[in-house]
This record gives sequence, structure tokens and C-alpha cells, in this order.
Amino acid sequence: MPSDTAQLLDGKALSQQIQAELNQQIQALQTQKGRPPGLAVLMVGDNPASAAYVRNKERACTKIGIASFGQHLSTETTQIELEKVIDSLNQDDLVDGILVQLPLPAHLNAVALLNQIHPDKDADGLHPVNMGRLVRGESGLRSCTPAGVMRLLQEYQVDPKGKQAVVIGRSILVGKPQALMLLEADATVTTAHSKTPDLKAIARTADILIVAIGRPGLVTADMVKPGATVIDVGMNRITDYEGKSYLVGDVDFNAVQDVAEFLTPVPGGVGPMTVAMLMHNTVQSYIHS
Ligand code: GUN
Repeated sequence: MPSDTAQLLDGKALSQQIQAELNQQIQALQTQKGRPPGLAVLMVGDNPASAAYVRNKERACTKIGIASFGQHLSTETTQIELEKVIDSLNQDDLVDGILVQLPLPAHLNAVALLNQIHPDKDADGLHPVNMGRLVRGESGLRSCTPAGVMRLLQEYQVDPKGKQAVVIGRSILVGKPQALMLLEADATVTTAHSKTPDLKAIARTADILIVAIGRPGLVTADMVKPGATVIDVGMNRITDYEGKSYLVGDVDFNAVQDVAEFLTPVPGGVGPMTVAMLMHNTVQSYIHS
């Protein structure tokens, strides 16, 4: 590999290391607690991408010793039925974390359901109380994907302090909490999105560029400052002319690796970190239960 090619940030390896550490922690605590930690992943309908993410989460639970209380509910499930499921999980002492896999079918009110999860069991860090804690810089359960990005930066000693950070995307799942976490880590933060004029000029100011917008190839080499750290949160399934399907991010990986100093691959970058942080949050709630 030529020396001017970006170093890859290996989220897969770091995720495995974190999960091994969590497994040790669980083994040490289980006798005292008299039970393993528990996580309930709720999935409604049969979105194939969601089904794959949920499978990864459940597999990780099994691997590290977290009991799974997941439910796969039919597309026709009503708001009231889901509210009842969340209510009973809120009250179940065996369950430390509850996660509603997004997106939900259109007839369901996702915000109302996320609000109903008890903030102490909010393994996804999406409840307004936990978002509010993040805004105020207080400790609390943090959203998994942006927390995973911060952990990955830390592992490779990319310190956001005093750096110019640009987040492309403003979703509640990634963009907004990501910007707040970078601010908490003393970066100067710009949030750009689909309505931002001259995205290229803004992206090129970034020492740390985080892309979470869901458009394959959006970030090209001319949008990246030489020596920048580029974190690709995109997960897009594309099909080539032969009908073969691939998972790609939002960054033109081949071109950007010649400009960036650090770059995350897709798959194997941010994705596995989301799972590791979900496990981390569940174990935190278990410790405090
Ligand atoms: N859909 C895609 N990623 C996520 C995630 O991290 N959490 C939830 N709840 N839904 C998602």
C-alpha cells in the first residue's frame, strides 16, 4: 500500500474488542446480579435492511451473554399494541434495554413510541430525556452510531479538540447527536445537509468530515481537504449491471483514500461500532439497575 493512501479505521476489530471487554464485565457481575443483562429489540414489518441489522444485534447479544427479549411484529401491528409491548418491557426487571428498530411502517407514530421507552432503558439514546442530557453535556445513554464514531476517533487518536468538524446530515439518529458530541469534544462544528449551498466548499474546511446522508458517492475527492479524517456513516445497497448487490457508503472510497489521512471502510467501519455501543449501553443500564 503506498504511504499516501489513507489509514483505514477498523470498526470491525474495535467492535470485537469492545464486545470481548463487555463479555468479561458481564461474567464478573452476573453472580452478584443473579441474572444476565437483557435487551429487547422490537422490529415491525419485514424491511430487509432492518432485518439484517436486527440479526446482527441479536447475534452480538448471544455472543457476549446478553439475553435477547426481541420481538418481530407483523406490519399490521397497531400503535396501541406496540405501546402495550413497550409498557410491559418497561416494567420487566429482566430487561435493561429496549430498542425500536427504525424506520417503522408509515401508520405508526415513531416519535410517540420512542418517547414511551423508559429513559433508563433507552439503549438507543433517542429518548428526549437522553437527547436533552447530551445537549446539556450531562452523562446519560448516548445514541449508538454517533457514540461509535467518537469511540473510533478516540481509538485512532484523532482528537476533535480545536479541529474543524463538518457533519453532512441532520437526522435524529446520527447527524444531530453527532454534531453535539463533536461540540462536547471541543471541535468547531458545522452541520450541512441536502439544502446546503456549495457543500463542496464547506466539506473542504473539515479536518474531520462525517457523512450520514444516505447517498452513494456523494463525497468525492475534491470535497475533501488533504489529510482530513473522513467517517462514512452511509449504508446503501446498490446493484451493478450484472445484478450483483453491494453495500456502499456515501463516500467515493477509491478516490477519497488518496486524499484523506484516515478513512472508514463500508462495510467494516461505523456499522459494527453501532452494535458495540448498543451492547455498551445495555450493560451500562444493567450495572445501574
Ligand atoms: N435504523 C438504522 N439504524 C438504527 C439504529 O441505530 N437504531 C434504530 N433504532 N434504528 C435504526
